[in-house]
Amino acid sequence: MSSQTRSAPFRSEDIVGFSCRTLSSMGSEIRRVFLLGQKLREENPAIDLVDLSLGNPDLEPPTEVREELVRLAQEHVAGAHRYMDNAGYPEVREFLASTLQKSEGVALTRDSVFLTCGAAGALQILLRTLLDPGDEVILLAPFFSEYRPYVSNMGGVPVIVGSDSNHLPYLSQLKAALSPRTRAIIVNSPNNPSGALYPESVLLEIADTLNRFYSETGRLVHLISDEPYARLLFNPAELVPILKIYPAAWLVRSHSKDLGLAGERIGYLAWGPQLALPETLNALRNSARALGFVNAPALMQRLLPRVFSASVDVLQYKQRVDAFVDILLAGGLECTRPRASFFVFPRSPLGDDNAFTERLLGEGVLAVPGSSFGKPGYFRCSLTQPLERVIEGAHRIVRAAQFKSAK
Ligand SMILES: Cc1ncc(COP(=O)(O)O)c(C=O)c1O
Repeated sequence: MSSQTRSAPFRSEDIVGFSCRTLSSMGSEIRRVFLLGQKLREENPAIDLVDLSLGNPDLEPPTEVREELVRLAQEHVAGAHRYMDNAGYPEVREFLASTLQKSEGVALTRDSVFLTCGAAGALQILLRTLLDPGDEVILLAPFFSEYRPYVSNMGGVPVIVGSDSNHLPYLSQLKAALSPRTRAIIVNSPNNPSGALYPESVLLEIADTLNRFYSETGRLVHLISDEPYARLLFNPAELVPILKIYPAAWLVRSHSKDLGLAGERIGYLAWGPQLALPETLNALRNSARALGFVNAPALMQRLLPRVFSASVDVLQYKQRVDAFVDILLAGGLECTRPRASFFVFPRSPLGDDNAFTERLLGEGVLAVPGSSFGKPGYFRCSLTQPLERVIEGAHRIVRAAQFKSAK
């Protein structure tokens, strides 16, 4: 019998492995809502949707960033487009080390900085380096939904700790969650989805809890501080230097949001002197290679020191957030006032977050249920739309909430 080529499409299980199917179902809610919006637009091109689903920053890169990019592209430097050290160009790491040394208040060298493809790349490289199969990683709800697949990718097990109505973690739950398999905790402040900023006192208590756990059990828990919104704080003085607070802290930063460069993929990882063993950098290099990142984009690395002090106009995000929250509060919704970025995380007036986001669809608003961030009963609105659309969205949300109270 001769072999035959099948003419019908293959089945999904012929293509997508079981693990990938399982991982893909985690945190897919944001995309699901976004795709639903696309479908609604295809079905009815005239539909007036306020899309608050995706956290895709809409403010364009500052002019100086665009001008420097043109300048860089025109400079003919031999080898400028080749592979380099997986950790990044030494002079760029040197620049970041001396800059961060001042803001973080700890001694850094270029060998404690690693350039990455955004914060996402940094998190994957770091988790691959730290985790063994079965190691637990504590996530503080509400959390960025991709953390679950990032941890599971490396054989890790996410362990969820809840938070109060200000979205600050319950420290008693954190203490109870620590186990002989705990390897790391991911802290994301300023936070996606809530816009909350953990005050220094909370970070100190987390550090104290982990220090005690280390003294009592000998188990070191790494604190991964994921800070892609650090430079979108409405009051920059509120930023807490995490490397100074905890000796096993890893700083993850990115310029996706503050320079409006999310599609260009540039970020970095930095760590303090107690983690700076000769093995550390090499282990991270190996992870970057094994995961296929190889190195952060060369052009973006060279751009970074030239535009480091530039930023999108954070006040525009603040204006949207304030206007949106004011309308929601006046309309009787419960909502904490974000301290950074463009996310707002109100409480669902129906209790059930899925039911309320479905109701919002009827008003032409796309928002993401809090369940996908590990905190049901809330919903996330990403204000990456012009101010007038954000205001329109807020009024529609109030209408949807009042429709419920009228019933
Ligand atoms: C909390 C958090 N971490 C990491 C990322 C990934 O950001 P990047 O574009 O820098 O990879 C995002 C992106 O939305 C985020 O919200």
